[in-house]
Amino acid sequence: MPDFKNILHTIYEETKQLSDTGRVATYIPELASISPNKFGICLLDIEKESYQIGDFDERFSVQSISKVLTLAMVMGLIGEKIWDRVDVEPSGDPFNHLSLLEQENGIPRNPLINAGAIVVADILVSELKNPKKEFLDFVHKISGDTTIRYDEKVAQSEKATGFKNYAAANLLKSYGNLKNDVIEVLDFYFCQCSLSMSCTQLCHTFYLFINRGRCMQNFDFLTVSQVKRINALMLTCGFYDEAGEFAFEVGLPGKSGVGGGIVALLPKRFCVTVWSPGLNPKGNSSRGMAALERLTTLSDLSIF
Ligand code: DON
Repeated sequence: MPDFKNILHTIYEETKQLSDTGRVATYIPELASISPNKFGICLLDIEKESYQIGDFDERFSVQSISKVLTLAMVMGLIGEKIWDRVDVEPSGDPFNHLSLLEQENGIPRNPLINAGAIVVADILVSELKNPKKEFLDFVHKISGDTTIRYDEKVAQSEKATGFKNYAAANLLKSYGNLKNDVIEVLDFYFCQCSLSMSCTQLCHTFYLFINRGRCMQNFDFLTVSQVKRINALMLTCGFYDEAGEFAFEVGLPGKSGVGGGIVALLPKRFCVTVWSPGLNPKGNSSRGMAALERLTTLSDLSIF
C-alpha cells in the first residue's frame, strides 16, 4: 500500500491553496450558509485502516450520494427487475434535466440522475412499510453507525423549492413510471437526500462497495455481481455530464452530491471521501475533484 498518510497531507496542503474552489449550492436555501472553506478527507483501505485530515469528522448534507444507497437497497429487495423501469446509460446531461425523460417515454437514463433516483425512491415507497425509517436502518446497518440522521431542515428546505423534482416526478407519473403519489415519493426522496454524514461515516458506509458486498460489520448485503453493477454505474453516471471528465482526471467510480461531498473508490483497495462545499458549474465539488486527481496521481492507483 502507498503511504496514504503522507499523500493525504500533501494533497490537502496543495488543494487548500487553490484560488477558485467553486460556489456553494444555493438552490436548496438551507445549503447556502455553509462555509466554502470547509475541507476534509477520509480514506479507508480494505484492511479497515483509515487516514483522515481537515474537517473529516464534520457532518454535511450528502444529497445525491444517497442515490447509490437507495439503489443498493432496491437491488437487494427486487434485484434485476429494477432495470424494467430505469436504464443504465450515461445521460451526458445535468442531474436535473428533463428533456431526455420525455424523449425516452419516461424511462430515466440511469438511477443516479434525479429522475432515475425518484423512480428508485418510488420502488422503496412501494416495497417498504415505513421507507424513511427502514432506509435509515439500512444505512445504520451497512455503516455500523447508528448515530447517522436525516437533517429535517434541509429536507423541508428542498421540499419548498425543489420545483424541478416536482416536474420530473409528474412527468414520470404521466408515463406510468411512478406508482405512488408524487408528493409521497418526493417527501421520501428529499428526506434521503438530507442524510447528514461525515467523510468518515461515508467511507464506512461505502466499504461494502470495495469489499464485494460485505459491509464493515462483516455482513453480506449485496452480491458480487450487484456491487459490480453499482460500481459501473458510479463510473459512467456518478458525475452526470462530467462523468467523462472525472474518469479522465481521477479514474475511479464515484458519486458526488451538491453538499460538496464526493465518495470515490478502487474495488478491493480503498474508498475515499472528500468534502469541500464549493461546486463547479456542473454541480460537483471543485476542490474535491482536484484533490482526487492528486490522490490517484500520487498513489498511482486508479482503475486504469
Ligand atoms: O434533487 C436534488 O436536486 C438534490 N436533492 C440532489 C442533487 C445533487 O446532489 C446533484 N449532485 N451533484
